[in-house]
Amino acid sequence: MNLKGTHVISIRDFPKEDILEVLDCARSLEQNPQPNLMQGKIMSSLFFEPSTRTRMSFDSAMKKIGGRVIDFVDPKASSLAKGETLADTIRMVDGYSDVIVMRHPLDGAARLASEVSRVPIINGGDGTNQHPTQTFLDLYTISKCKGKLGELRIGFLGDLKYGRTVHSLADAMALFDAEMFFVSTDSLRMPDSNLKELSDAGVTYHETSEISEVIAHLDVLYVTRIQAERFSDPVEYEKVKGAYVVNLALLAEAKNDLKVMHPLPRVDEIDKEVDSSAHAVYFEQARNGIPIRQALLAMVTGAI
Ligand code: CP
Repeated sequence: MNLKGTHVISIRDFPKEDILEVLDCARSLEQNPQPNLMQGKIMSSLFFEPSTRTRMSFDSAMKKIGGRVIDFVDPKASSLAKGETLADTIRMVDGYSDVIVMRHPLDGAARLASEVSRVPIINGGDGTNQHPTQTFLDLYTISKCKGKLGELRIGFLGDLKYGRTVHSLADAMALFDAEMFFVSTDSLRMPDSNLKELSDAGVTYHETSEISEVIAHLDVLYVTRIQAERFSDPVEYEKVKGAYVVNLALLAEAKNDLKVMHPLPRVDEIDKEVDSSAHAVYFEQARNGIPIRQALLAMVTGAI
């Protein structure tokens, strides 16, 4: 497989074999660091929404393999503030760099950027749509902590309506014959369009509002924050805020080897008492962003 020149926009664009190859590449870079791999290459970092992990781990990943990073720090300090379009911005920035990583609040913004860019675009999250690099690192984490990706029972808890990490990971786990359990309030259910696609792909899934009904069945529990910033009506957010809290009492009903994941940041949906339990893998998950993003940067720029 050669991913040189490939845009990373949606996990759906990647067949299972390509996903496994990215994970293998990440594993190899983690075991055998290559500090000069990206020497002479520049990554542009365009974040139109807040980020800690995605922005900083891309930055760190690029620098650890010898590349350099440029960014505009704050979109308000760029010519976007003068009315320049995203497409024109990309048409400029692609001349300054070998690869562009971007996050944008609008669904489809990364796809639009890829249609005008002469260098690979890597989607660091577009609205409620997709977050493919998070999914690669989620898969990497699952394969490391469960020893396999296939035939797992995975629960998704929290904001399944707006959660792009959930949408991306469910798409990917469908390729690995996962059985899925969607746990949310009625207003934050997995969108029907996503459920239909999973159904069409032959996925067995279940929906409930009660985590206690399914916790004992799960191999992986993927918890998400209820995203206040996506609600147009704050009253609707207040109705669901704090709806779920994963704590040790709940986990007492789980399998001993259940792994609890979270893309982070968390607010209050995982009690801090869980952090030191053997179930918690969310900080390790965030650290796995480094080898995965190194692999993607190297592969799409043709360095590997
Ligand atoms: N998981 C994730 O996307 O975190 P950030 O929003 O901090 O990048």
